[in-house]
Amino acid sequence: MSIICELSDLQRLYHKRVPKMFQGYCESGSWTQQTLELNSSDFHRILFRQRVARDLEPRSLKTTMVGHDVKMPLALAPVGLLGMQHPDGEILAAQAAEEFGVPFTLSTMSICSIEAVAAKTTQPFWFQLYVQKDRAFTKKLIDRAKAVGCSALVVTLDLQMIGRRHADHRNGMTAPPKLTLPNIFDIARRPRWALGMLKTDNREFGNIQGCATGVDDMHDLMKWTASSFDPKLSWEDIRYFRDVWEGPLIIKGIMEVEDAKECVKLGADAIVVSNHGGRQLDGARSSISTLPEIVAAVGDQIDVWLDSGIRSGQDIIRAKALGAKGVMVGRPMVYGLGAMGKSGVAKMLDIFHQEAELTMAFIGHRDINNITREDIVFQHETF
Ligand code: FNR
Repeated sequence: MSIICELSDLQRLYHKRVPKMFQGYCESGSWTQQTLELNSSDFHRILFRQRVARDLEPRSLKTTMVGHDVKMPLALAPVGLLGMQHPDGEILAAQAAEEFGVPFTLSTMSICSIEAVAAKTTQPFWFQLYVQKDRAFTKKLIDRAKAVGCSALVVTLDLQMIGRRHADHRNGMTAPPKLTLPNIFDIARRPRWALGMLKTDNREFGNIQGCATGVDDMHDLMKWTASSFDPKLSWEDIRYFRDVWEGPLIIKGIMEVEDAKECVKLGADAIVVSNHGGRQLDGARSSISTLPEIVAAVGDQIDVWLDSGIRSGQDIIRAKALGAKGVMVGRPMVYGLGAMGKSGVAKMLDIFHQEAELTMAFIGHRDINNITREDIVFQHETF
């Protein structure tokens, strides 16, 4: 029985249990992976100011995200193909989030459909939209999310075209998985549920059946994505989504002040400063290094969140100190899910909560909402 103390323990277990093709899909960045690496290494340049002799009881990480009460300022990010990392992956992750008290975001590219996740959860979840060229179909996705009571719409803007992800090309990443000999040998060494990965009956995409660009013959995921996602997406489209979606609208994939200002103008409720976990434009800055200028420009007009590179509860505190009202996590959820299913996602959330609470106490705070830029220094400022 493995002892799980931190995220890397879940990651190790994930490597043992999940087939290599899906590990590659989850872990790799694009091109040279420079941005993927910066996303993590830039967090480590942020150091804490330790404080002592403060009254540290009681402590709370509770806050709100677009009006929802949350146990800590973290939402599970939309991750495509979660149901390939573990059978019923989207349902299990949504249930873990619901039980813990943080939001779950269902990707357009999920295996379990919007309706299937709704049927197995009791709290509303968020729906993430990739805008398809087929606008009637895009609108239908929004209507389905509304019909099941999704409580926020997350529109992702940084995937009009897909970044070059060499690992996926090398691994022959397909959905459903192709029956190749390396796949069979690799999966056969893993737990029994991993064998089910090769069955195609429950490996379909739950949400995008029926899209005009030929989803029924989706053996090459990259090709399908390239032909369906809309390279002509514009701010006018966001205006339209704002009109048709009455609930909170969250725009994900913002890295520049000018784009953040457009989101404010269009009436979005929150933006996610994100480079898609280093999976799109390689050579882009890390999202944590971009955060302060965006917070300075629009932080008083819109909730600014961050994702890409959060690997611990300490990183949540670092992001808070630089002005993020909340964070999202992608790969940490996948590691938990692939390692231990629903209880692995719950474990990741619990670890992050403990780490964040302890770090908050060491820097002298009882309430996460009181953390500010004064609580950190950058490494190069220290000597
Ligand atoms: C993603 N991400 C993503 N984003 C989105 O809006 N829709 C999606 O379907 C996906 N799919 C997806 C798959 C995988 C395997 C990963 C790792 C990521 C991006 C995701 O929402 C988030 O922005 C990043 O994962 C954040 O970075 P970290 O937490 O993984 O470092």
